[in-house]
Amino acid sequence: MKITSLIIAAACVAALPNVAFAASGEELYKKYCAICHSVTAGQNKGGPALASIMGKPAGQVEGFVKYKGLKGADFTWGDENMDAFLANPKKFIKANTENTGTSMFAKVKKAEDRVAIIEFLKAN
Ligand code: HEC
Repeated sequence: MKITSLIIAAACVAALPNVAFAASGEELYKKYCAICHSVTAGQNKGGPALASIMGKPAGQVEGFVKYKGLKGADFTWGDENMDAFLANPKKFIKANTENTGTSMFAKVKKAEDRVAIIEFLKAN
């Protein structure tokens, strides 16, 4: 009986961080990203739509014609490169493509905010 409660309590605590990430990730996304990015496929704005972007090849969202830094990119988005990109898009583009500039200038400075945003992107 006691052991069962403990296991349930432990499971709840273990599940909490993900829930918290998803919620604040959405808030951060709305605050810093939504002005240029929709998460609805096909709705490109100043930036490409980010529906299911994690695991996809970079720079290839259908219908988005304003790629600059990510034009001709040759990699797939995962946790690590997305984290580096969000931390400093310009620096990332310079290090990982043959291009030098990007019109995405938003920098997400806090590592925990980047993790939360990436969790949000994975869920959308
Ligand atoms: C001022 C508009 C703007 C803001 C704000 C912005 N972005 Fe972008 N984003 C862009 C543009 C433009 C591109 C294309 C970059 C390029 O090719 O140089 C892009 C590209 C991306 C890509 C790569 C998409 C692909 O097709 O591979 C991701 C992921 C992304 N942004 C995420 C974010 C996140 C997360 C935020 C918020 C923290 C954000 N962006 C804020 C304009 C913006």
